[in-house]
Amino acid sequence: MNILSIETSADETAAAIIEDGTKVLSNVVASSKELHDKTGGIIPEVAAREQIRYIIPVIREVMQPFASTQGKQLTMNNIDALAVTIGPGLNGSLLIGVETAKTVAFVTGKPLIPVNHIFAHIYANWLDAPILPTFPAIALVVSGGHTELFLMHSHKKIKWLGGTLDDAAGEAFDKTARVLGLGYPGGPAIAATAAKFQISNFKFQIIKLPRPMISSKDLNFSFSGLKTAVMKEINRLKIMKQFNNETISQLAYEIQESITDVLIKKTLDAAIKYKINSILLGGGVAANKKLSEKFKFKIENLKFKIDLHIPPPFLCTDNAAYIGSFAYFHNIPVPWNQINAQPDLTVEV
Ligand code: KG4
Ligand code: ZN
Repeated sequence: MNILSIETSADETAAAIIEDGTKVLSNVVASSKELHDKTGGIIPEVAAREQIRYIIPVIREVMQPFASTQGKQLTMNNIDALAVTIGPGLNGSLLIGVETAKTVAFVTGKPLIPVNHIFAHIYANWLDAPILPTFPAIALVVSGGHTELFLMHSHKKIKWLGGTLDDAAGEAFDKTARVLGLGYPGGPAIAATAAKFQISNFKFQIIKLPRPMISSKDLNFSFSGLKTAVMKEINRLKIMKQFNNETISQLAYEIQESITDVLIKKTLDAAIKYKINSILLGGGVAANKKLSEKFKFKIENLKFKIDLHIPPPFLCTDNAAYIGSFAYFHNIPVPWNQINAQPDLTVEV
């Protein structure tokens, strides 16, 4: 079964064609990230306008011949169903993808499957995967807007275990990067700046940041205090005339350590509590190299076996491939005229 999927929840305009939920036949992502770098974050109106510019070229491109389609141009005859992200996300951005998908469904008569972007992030783990995940599993979705832990007994039985009480992990990267003047998106910028510290100055770490809620008994997170802690450190360093490239890279290092320590601790707490087989990561922050290295190290040192699944970075950040995979495993089409963008769609189930 081939699904043509569309994703436009924020600043990426994406389309993909996925065979049987697992094989990526084609995958195209256009991003307006560079425009948002200038403003230090997404301006919704700007993102929506870029979505309109990109959506048709992206869909046309996804039908082009690819190695995975044996060099064949795909047509609507090759497509069995359509899928689209309906939320959560920015209203203006979502509307472009949703209304485009509805139009294609109306014109072609193909079934249209509405998709919740947050759950869908988990399904990057089923795409072109060397080993498919097994249940029960703990899934951690860490993106710009969400930090959520789920217990998955099966595709149909998914329980929300906890999430952030305030800022998401990606948001913490983005906000702290902004106060350090490192640009947008903050995650890759913090990672690159942190790497400079590890190479040059490992022995002289003078900056320590808190690990928010790391010892709380629940499976919730809180990252908003991190930005305040970073701002306090910046002020302290400025007074001591020590705010320079070296201390900026130390701060970036500590930000990354703090966020990854908390994410790993809570995920492993859940894994141990529910005696699961697999841990599945998804969302833009799962592209963080330090996070995957630390996760691997921790899991190798556990007394029991857990399979760790982390998608390649290009499938962690927003794309339509995982939207198509989710739609295959949750194949519930809805008549196109009953589908609407839902910016505030939640995940608590
Ligand atoms: O999943 P995503 O592409 O979009 C949303 O659904 O939000 O996630 C974007 C978030 C941004 O906050 C960005 O800073 C973060 O993912 N991110 C990273 C990395 N790449 C993207 N965070 C840490 N390390 C990275 N390498
Ligand atoms: Zn996302």
